[in-house]
Order: sequence, then structure tokens, then C-alpha cells
Amino acid sequence: MSIETPALGTANEFIARHIGPREGDIKAMLQLLGHEDIEALTANVIPDSIKGTSVLDLPAGQGEAEALAAIKAIAAKNQLFKSYIGQGYYPCHTPSPILRNLLENPAWYTAYTPYQPEISQGRLEALLNFQTLVSDLAGLPVANASLLDEGTAAAEAMTFCKRLAKNKASQAFFASQHCHPQTLDVLRTRAEPLGIEVVIGDERELSDASAYFGALLQYPAANGDVFDYRALVERFHAAGALVAVAADLLALTLLTPPGEFGADVALGSAQRFGVPLGFGGPHAAYFATRDSFKRDMPGRLVGVSIDRHGQPALRLAMQTREQHIRREKATSNICTAQVLLANIASMYAVYHGPQGLTRIANRVHQLTAILAEGLSQLGVTVEQAHFFDTLTLATGARTLDLHAAARAQRLNLREVDAVRLGLSLDETTTQADVEQLWALFADGQALPAFADLAATVASRLPAALLRQSAILAHPVFNRYHSETELMRYLRKLADKDLALDRSMIPLGSCTMKLNAASEMIPVTWAEFGALHPFAPAEQSRGYAELTTELEAMLCQATGYDAVSLQPNAGSQGEYAGLLAIRAYHQSRGDDQRDICLIPQSAHGTNPATAAMVGMRVVVTACDARGNVDIADLKAKAEEHQERLAALMITYPSTHGVFEEGIREICEIIHANGGQVYIDGANMNAMVGLCAPGQFGGDVSHLNLHKTFCIPHGGGGPGVGPIGVKAHLAPFLPGHAQMARKEGAVSAAPFGSASILPITWMYIRMMGGDGLRRATQLAILNANYIARRLEEHYPVLYTGSNGLVAHECILDLRPLKETSGISVDDVAKRLIDYGFHAPTMSFPVPGTLMIEPTESESKEELDRFCDAMIRIREEIRAVEAGELDKDDNPLKNAPHTAHELVGEWTHRYSRELAVYPTASLVDGKYWPPVGRVDNVYGDRNLVCACPSIEAYQDA
Ligand SMILES: Cc1ncc(COP(=O)(O)O)c(C=O)c1O
Repeated sequence: MSIETPALGTANEFIARHIGPREGDIKAMLQLLGHEDIEALTANVIPDSIKGTSVLDLPAGQGEAEALAAIKAIAAKNQLFKSYIGQGYYPCHTPSPILRNLLENPAWYTAYTPYQPEISQGRLEALLNFQTLVSDLAGLPVANASLLDEGTAAAEAMTFCKRLAKNKASQAFFASQHCHPQTLDVLRTRAEPLGIEVVIGDERELSDASAYFGALLQYPAANGDVFDYRALVERFHAAGALVAVAADLLALTLLTPPGEFGADVALGSAQRFGVPLGFGGPHAAYFATRDSFKRDMPGRLVGVSIDRHGQPALRLAMQTREQHIRREKATSNICTAQVLLANIASMYAVYHGPQGLTRIANRVHQLTAILAEGLSQLGVTVEQAHFFDTLTLATGARTLDLHAAARAQRLNLREVDAVRLGLSLDETTTQADVEQLWALFADGQALPAFADLAATVASRLPAALLRQSAILAHPVFNRYHSETELMRYLRKLADKDLALDRSMIPLGSCTMKLNAASEMIPVTWAEFGALHPFAPAEQSRGYAELTTELEAMLCQATGYDAVSLQPNAGSQGEYAGLLAIRAYHQSRGDDQRDICLIPQSAHGTNPATAAMVGMRVVVTACDARGNVDIADLKAKAEEHQERLAALMITYPSTHGVFEEGIREICEIIHANGGQVYIDGANMNAMVGLCAPGQFGGDVSHLNLHKTFCIPHGGGGPGVGPIGVKAHLAPFLPGHAQMARKEGAVSAAPFGSASILPITWMYIRMMGGDGLRRATQLAILNANYIARRLEEHYPVLYTGSNGLVAHECILDLRPLKETSGISVDDVAKRLIDYGFHAPTMSFPVPGTLMIEPTESESKEELDRFCDAMIRIREEIRAVEAGELDKDDNPLKNAPHTAHELVGEWTHRYSRELAVYPTASLVDGKYWPPVGRVDNVYGDRNLVCACPSIEAYQDA
């Protein structure tokens, strides 16, 4: 049954834009599956025990133009004051060519995490630039390709220090009172379950460094001071402690970098490198460390390796720590990071280059020095002798009035306390701004003459800490300074990659669906982009309306009673969810409940998260059909009855099946005193059909970057909100800016707020019927693929009705036996056919997990199935000896254009190599490198841009 659009309106019009298959296609697909209609199919897939649990009751979908007008009206309720609040968030200019060619370009934002390096060389290069940028500025040799925000990066640094410091006896971590307050809040949240004591104090008064395993310092300090930490770092080192420094990247262009004064870790936010404030996120955090610690780094690391032809090629290094996190050793749960934002920062540095960045930093500093001097002349007490861009002013009894006067002129100053306030300048500050600030404080006095001060003020950076080492000497930061060059560089990199704008990305568990342009448009509106996260509440009424509405929409989609939008990735949602469970048990005096049952098939983040909240993981078995072994689960729940805290279970399962026993499973856990965490990564199979909050879940996270259309950005951003039943609502994450102050899991109250409009737009345009329809089509598309491919590759798991949920797993292990062809070979051969491979070897080694999503048309599904069937024929030819078992198009895949021009020595034709189907002639994707050597890359770990000499050799 199709959903009608009224003749004189646009209601529900968007649904057919979002959904791939047309009505006629749907009929044909259903016919193949032997089902009358889509209702019959989905009724057959959803187990009876949970059927009808959906509480989704939203109005019809709004047309694109109307929805954009509605969100514009919401956006208009945000008021854009000029922000001098600072505290880790600074206005900046996103260079227009980066805005247009990267941030707003689907070639960049619709890409997936670069697990398949051959089709990801462009974004890998951009990320390697980011790592080089960070490593250079921080003065530490190894940097990762982003963490989620400065607060969580600091928390990662704390546990990193705990693992690696020599002082094993200590459980205490020193955090300077000069750190940003939101960072201290996240530290407190993360430390408590691990039994770590965070001691917040003034490092200048530190008496005994040996009490600590590690320390966190802020550079420059949150109040603006630039302290010399050299002696302090030595004291910590002498006591066997490690030191992490949260540092401002722009300031580091002028100041001695943390690595040069002995820091073991540098971390922080790259926001002010061209990323909009966005009411707190998303922004890329960075993390850099010493060479000897590189294998312990959290997050993803891009490394240099070689391809099959011995040519340099990039890849994610040490990937096995991710999807395959070894449960008992997991130390961090970070998965989705902030790739798109890291790439913006990377390109900001590429565009400005070392001189440009230094010029910006100098300008910000000089304007701050001029401002300070003028304020002093006006009789205002500036507390800092040395500073970079931030001042704390002792304003005494005038403080409240000054804030009020500032607001009357649409300016926000930092609220420090009753007698002091703060000011941070930034890249956007001008002479007129400085004069406006002087006028605010002048109290009727004549203003200083800007030109006179500009000619006379000296630098207020401490002479002993002026940076001596050069920055960004690498050619990549010195080549692309004209807009023409940058535009072409971005195009060149994008052309190397395969994103959703070229072909389907059938990654199981990742839900790579359409990220519609109308959903994306509000993201770069200033009304959403230019708001500081700590702006007064009356200025963010638009955000308040948006988030309140979105929370209600997500409650309906999941059947939960309350939602927190704060977690900024699925992993963080898991963390917030388990924290809520833990706090609930504690509130009932059940402090001993610390066991988390997790089925064997779980995603790696689940056990990692359980470890982070101090829970002990007990793994439960799966049966031969991939379902939770209920008898084993029951036995373990009963065995640990006294200490059972939670079950973490993914539904539908990571095996792509709606397990029929889910209600019974939830009941067993509840009967034994535990809470049920339903991992909602697979929510795309449920919206509008069944609701985890109604069939036994107590809490779930959603990946808005899967089910709810936030693009994956090449590996982030993401949003991982959690829904909870009412009894857990009091334990949702709090924030200093919210009613509940404790339990912040992100630095900003709404995590990655500026991308929430994407999900709002999606839900608004799809409406209740459209969302339900999307789920049905996701199930149809997956079953269609499973049916078309099952005679060629066995489908590993199905429900009792022979159907799958929204994804299916193909078992390639038997082929390895008969032909020597591995799952890797098939994945790489798909590149020759123009496809991104499905998820490889998760959750079962030697398999491919395919999730087409509802957005792919029948034509695209057929193109993919045809490619898979042709590949099976090629494997058959290997089995039959018609193709050589070693020198065949599968083992040598993917084939580059460059290979074709040399002497062709293979035992198969060039045509078979690169044009295995005639249709490819019309639109061929050429991978820029051959198969990348993973082992070489991990053995010879190089995680910054190759040296200048290497470029000269090339
Ligand atoms: C089942 C499952 N749970 C959790 C996650 C973690 O989500 P994120 O990558 O947003 O941290 C994923 C991500 O792929 C997943 O597939």
C-alpha cells in the first residue's frame, strides 16, 4: 500500500525521495519473496511477542520546503550575540572553499570510516594531514585522527596515564583548577566508577607529586594565564606520574609546545581551526603522545603503508583494536570519532599554512594585548601578566552591571564569579570590537587611541615560552594557499574515494542511508552554527525548542519515556546508559550489582563500555542459529543473581535476526534484579514496527548517524542519544548548564547540537507513516538481497521463517576451502565492480554482512547482486582451475589504472580485471592504490605525513 500525497499539498512528498524502490519494483521484489504485500512481509519478520509495540504516532510528513521553513522559524529563536566567553569554544571563520567543497559536499560527508583503505585514500590523506598538524603543534611525534571533545579526550588521557604511569600504587589524578570547568566535570564522571580520585587544585601549591599517577594541566590556563610548567612536569615525572596537557592549538603556533616541556600527552579541541561553534559540537578533539606510548593510544590512527605494487598507501593502523576490541583488554570504547571536523581543521591548516596560522595567532594575541592595555588605562584590573587571548578582569561590584550592559549590546562575556569576568578574543575579532569593549568598561572616560596602542604594546607572551621550533614545514601545508589550488586539492582527494554519492555502501550494522540535502541545509545556518554552548539560555530558545521536540520524537520512535541528546557517539550513549543503570542500582542500595552479561555476538564497544563503568563482563553463548542461548543466559543470570547489574543486547541481533525470545530474555534479566540495555544500533529495523522501550528494554542508545540520517562524515560526527524508561530518567547525563548538574558525559550540554537539525528534518519530512515505511523497505531490501544471493553464498542466519531483518550475513568460509579465495579477496574485488565492500568479518570471521537500507533502489540492489554473482562465477572458475589459484582477478584486486599501462603479465585479461561488466565502461571508479599491505603498515608504524625527502624521492 503506497502512501498518498494530496493533489493540492506536499504532505508525505519526501517519502518517495528518501526511499529507493518504486511501487512497481516493490511488487516485483515481494513476488520474489513470495509475499502478497509489504505488511505481510514485515508481519512475518517481526516476532509475535513484540508485534504492535510501536507507539509511533506522528503526523504526516511535511514537504521539504515547508519543513525548511518550519526549522528556519525555530532557528530564528536563537539569538546571535558576539561571544567573548571562550572556555574552549571560539568563533572562527570557516574558509568559504572549505565550507562549500568539504563541509557541504556529499563526497566528504557521506563517506564511511576508512576501513577499506583502497577506496579511502583521499580522506586518509586529509586525516594524516590532521595528525601531522597536531603532532607538529603539540611537539609530540604521534597524534590520532580525532577524539570526540576536549572533555572526553581529557578523560581518555586520565585512564591512559593510569595504565602507563610507573606510580602503580596511586589511585589519584591531579587536575589543575585552571582547566576548563566542563573538562573537570567529565573527568569526575569518568573517574568515579573506576575508583579514581580526581584531586582538583592549584598546581602552584602542589605539595606531594608522589600522591598521583598522573596530572592534567591547561595551557594556556582557562583564566588566560600562560604558566611555565617545566619544573612541575619534572616533579611529576620524578614521582613516576605522567602529565597530560590540554592545549590550545592556535596558541601553540606561538608558544613552546607541550612535547618540548616534557608533557607525555597533549590533547584538546581543534574547533577554532575553522569549525563552527555549533552550540558545543561536533568538533574534533585531538590526542598526541610520545612514540613509546603509541600502541596504547585511544581512537583511530592513520598510518602509512605500501600497496601490492610497493607504492605508498595509507590505512587505519592497528585496526584490530576496533571492531574486534579484545574484551578483557578493552581500555577505551571510542569508535565513531569526528573525522569530518578533523578534516575541516586539517584543511584550515593546509589553506592558511604556517605563516597564515601564525599571522592569525599573532593578530588575536596583539588585539588581546591592545585590549588589555586599554582596559588598564581605563582603570580596569587585568589579572594576567602573561596571556595569549584570554583575560580575567577584576570588576568587583560592577560585574553584574557590566554583564547587563554587554548583553544590551548583544555581547556575551564570560561569567567567572560575582566579582570577576572573562574575555576571550578570536580570529573574528576586529579593531571595532576592541573599541566596543573599551567603551563598555569606560564608564564615561575617553577611550584610548587604538592606533597609538597598536604601535606601542609589546607581546604579553612569556619570553621564556616563546616557540622556537618551526611549524608545518611539510609541503602539504605550503602548497595550497590560493583558492584555486585548495579547491582542486579537495576535489582530487574526494575523487580518490568512494562515498554514497557514487554507489551504495552496504555496510552491515552501519546503516548507510541517504543523508538528504534538505536535512543537511540547516546545519550550516549561522543561527545553529554560531552559538556558544554556554550562551545564556534566553539566547538559545531555538535550540531548546528543537531539542525538546526531538526528544519527544525519539521517545515515540523507541517507546521510552525520556531521552538525553548529550552523548556524542553510540559508544558514549552506551556509557551514559550503563551509568544510569549503575546509579539506579546504587539509589536502591544495590551497590554490589556490577555484573554485565553480554552475548558473544556483541559489538566490541559493549564490553569496552561495561569495563569503563567498572562492571565485570560475563559472556553468554549464542546457539547454532546465532541467537542468544537462552538456557545459558538464564543460568548465568541466576548464578550471578546477587550481583547482576545489566544485560547488554543488540536488537535485532548483530547477526541480523529478530530473535523471538527477546521478551523472555528481558524477563529473565528483570527477574534476577538486572536492567536491560538494548543496543539500538539496529533501530533501522524497528522504527514504527516495534519499540524496545515497550518490549522490555530499560535503556537504549540510538545512532542518529545510522537510523536517523546524520551522515557518517568519513568516521564521524555521530550522535548517540539514549532513551530510558521513567525509573532511569533521574540518572540521565547532567551538565553545569542543565537542571541536573552531575554526570556530564560530554563537554557540551547537548553534545553535538548543531547536527541535531538533520534528524529533526528527517523525522518531520517522513512523518509517522514515512518512518514506518522506511523500516519496512529496509527489511524488504535486505531480504531481497538475501534471496537473490542465497543460492550463490549461504545466508548464515535467518529467523525461523527463513527471513532476515534489515541486514544479512553471507558465509564465505566454505569458499576459502574450495578455492583459496578469502572474504578479503571478495571485498577488494567488489571495488573493481565499483562497490564499497559490506562489513567484513563482523560479527563472524570469514563473512560479509550486507545492509542495503531503504534508500537504495532496486536497480542499485540488482547491480550489487549481479556483481556478487559474477564474483561467485569467478570463484567457480578458480575452483575449476580455469583461473589460476594465485594469479587471478580476485587475489590481485583491486586493479588500478596504472597497472594497465605497463606490461600485462597476469593470466587473465585486462578487460576482466577492470571491466568485468560492460556497464562499468559508462562510469568506472578507479582505485588510486592497489591492495594495501596491513601487516607492513603495523610493523612500520608511520603516522605523520611522509618526510619531505620522501616527496623529493617520489
Ligand atoms: C551494534 C553497535 N553498537 C554500538 C556501536 C558504536 O557506535 P559509535 O560508532 O557511534 O560509537 C556500533 C557502531 O558501529 C554498533 O554497530
